[in-house]
Amino acid sequence: MSLPVVVALKGIHPFYLRALESCFTVHTLDPGMEQAAMAGVAPQVLGLASSGESKVPASLMAQFPALKIVSVFGVGYDGVDLQAARTRGIAVTHTPGVLTDDVADLAMALMLAVARGVARADQHVRLGKWPAGGLPLGRKVSGARLGIVGLGRIGHAIAKRAQAFDMEISYTARSEKSEAAFTYYADAQSLAAAVDFLVVITPGGAATRNLVNAEVLKSLGSDGYLINVARGSVIDEDALVAALQAGTIAGAGLDVFASEPQVPEALWAMPNVVLTPHIASGTVQTREAMAALALANMQAGTSGQPVRTMVPELQESTTE
Ligand code: NAP
Ligand code: 8YV
Repeated sequence: MSLPVVVALKGIHPFYLRALESCFTVHTLDPGMEQAAMAGVAPQVLGLASSGESKVPASLMAQFPALKIVSVFGVGYDGVDLQAARTRGIAVTHTPGVLTDDVADLAMALMLAVARGVARADQHVRLGKWPAGGLPLGRKVSGARLGIVGLGRIGHAIAKRAQAFDMEISYTARSEKSEAAFTYYADAQSLAAAVDFLVVITPGGAATRNLVNAEVLKSLGSDGYLINVARGSVIDEDALVAALQAGTIAGAGLDVFASEPQVPEALWAMPNVVLTPHIASGTVQTREAMAALALANMQAGTSGQPVRTMVPELQESTTE
């Protein structure tokens, strides 16, 4: 019996690809070559597998007339055209929850790394510079003031970790959380002005584009640190580079960038910046859990069953 057909965007994680190959006939697709490569199989394609960073525009979905689901390997789905999916009744699913701990862990790791100069100190030892002298003192993290931009699943997990560091926690989000015992600020700028560390963990997309701009960085101030584990688009990257060059802020820990995998070269040599290549969910355990959930969604969505984790915007309009 032939297996149902799905398309996997080139570059999706091997755990997800392998999981899909156990249940489906999988065609991998280089987004630049879609028309030519998919001509023969397009009418049979029921599912599209993508990752959190993938672009899934209406033009891509339009190539597959029988498409039932886009199953994203990631909690973020800002690259998927939800309006086009809604119009055609295509389900869009993601992987919330299973990666929360890892992303919060990396946010703390970046905060500690940048404040305590961990990467720089490691280089100091490896390059044999220690005998010639020490390094500048770091910034104490325990007890400092933390501002969280986006108090959702991951934001709460960051707050929980920060409480163990006796940090004073404030946040901003679209709405105040009456259940949260943290101080609410109505916008990122007023939050930035009140904290030592500003951690950004909102979704990407149009609604949050450049939410952290030159004014917010100015409010964070010359003793303040910015951590971004959300999406590169949430920060005005040119303004961030300028703020770091001018000493407008003290430093930054960045896992995500505006044009990944390109990172502004101006950041490479800055000793007060720690850079990681979008690895916040990158542990074996979490990537396995993400693959299992993304596969379960794909199996349900291609066979007309209720999916496990539909994106919130489509929970009303398609059957979950
Ligand atoms: P979530 O539970 O939906 O939380 C999102 C939070 O952002 C909510 O508190 C929401 O406010 C807030 N928010 C949304 N739009 C906003 C706006 N315009 N202004 C201010 N706050 C806004 O999502 P999550 O599971 O925590 O994930 C958050 C994001 O992290 C993902 O969407 C993804 O982009 C990113 N992420 C990155 C990595 C990585 O590898 N670096 C890994 C996983 C996730 P309300 O609560 O008021 O609605
Ligand atoms: C990526 C992420 O999806 O969940 C998200 O939104 O950004 C990450 O977990 C993951 O790196 C796979 O590409």
